[in-house]
Amino acid sequence: MIFRQLFEPVSCTYSYLLASRRGGEALIIDPVLEKVDRYLQLIKELNLKLVKAADTHLHADHITGLGALRDRTHCITVMGEQTKADVVSMRLADGDKLTIEGVSLDAIYTPGHTDDSYSFIMGDRVFSGDTLLIRGTGRTDFQNGDARQQYDSLFGRLLTLPEETLVFPAHDYKGDTVSTIGEEKRFNPRLQVKSVEEYVELMNNLKLPNPKMMDVAVPANLHVGLHQEEIARRGWALSAQQAMAIAGRPDIALIDLREPIERERHGVIPSSLHVPYPTLQENIHAGGMLNELAKATGKRILFYCAFGERSAMAVQAAQDVGLSSACHIQGGIDAWKKAGGPLAH
Ligand SMILES: [Fe+2]
Repeated sequence: MIFRQLFEPVSCTYSYLLASRRGGEALIIDPVLEKVDRYLQLIKELNLKLVKAADTHLHADHITGLGALRDRTHCITVMGEQTKADVVSMRLADGDKLTIEGVSLDAIYTPGHTDDSYSFIMGDRVFSGDTLLIRGTGRTDFQNGDARQQYDSLFGRLLTLPEETLVFPAHDYKGDTVSTIGEEKRFNPRLQVKSVEEYVELMNNLKLPNPKMMDVAVPANLHVGLHQEEIARRGWALSAQQAMAIAGRPDIALIDLREPIERERHGVIPSSLHVPYPTLQENIHAGGMLNELAKATGKRILFYCAFGERSAMAVQAAQDVGLSSACHIQGGIDAWKKAGGPLAH
């Protein structure tokens, strides 16, 4: 198991790099834009392939590294389904699993610091974002924060984990790196309250100044989406309506790039093949299934995913290896649904 806690000193942010083995797939949680070069260097040194980058919530104190990592590695960007960030490739709901090769994290919705806050549990540890900090809790006075919800997220969710669970937060301003649930229950001053009312009272009277970066970071972090217009400008995109008109035709091969969990929840476009995005490269290269399919049958490859992000990257990758008919459904199954396209479950 590879586990690295990485620190960004300006916003005192911890980011976490996870992988099951050298040479394998990697996931990074809460990356910071300014540290992207450092992450990529480490990923290279450890011979890892970054496949996912996730944020626990929309950050107000730093610009996320999600967009830059996506642009440079074509990884999948992940956040919770409540996020107002314009487009992330994949959105998780409470109870979903965030997986890469050999690593599986349980996503739990822990709102309160923001209304899009998630925590991720992996075996003996929890990545608690800004919901639970070491001897503190994330402020609840902006970004749709809610002290009452945070109380429930803490006392109803995180603090019910086994006492020995390691707590890895998104920030620490004192230099602490890790704690445990038991330790926080006993020594975290914010958690020594007798009722939700007492907690709300405490949180509503902190009188903290706004984070220095807030006016820059929040707008930037709301716009992490790929610019799908560029793919459209090259003629490689179909609107959902255009896709509906040709879906099911024998000369079209619809390819679903999403993960099984997304297919189950949102349904699939009838008669599509499933090629999860992380397996794309092996499928589009010479000898790969999609390469053979396109060349042997002359079918036009029509990719789709959740919001058009993974499929836009897939179109580019397919075009790069000479699959010149490859295109995608702009806006993904989200746009397809809104256009009234049929779905199979
Ligand atoms: Fe935060």
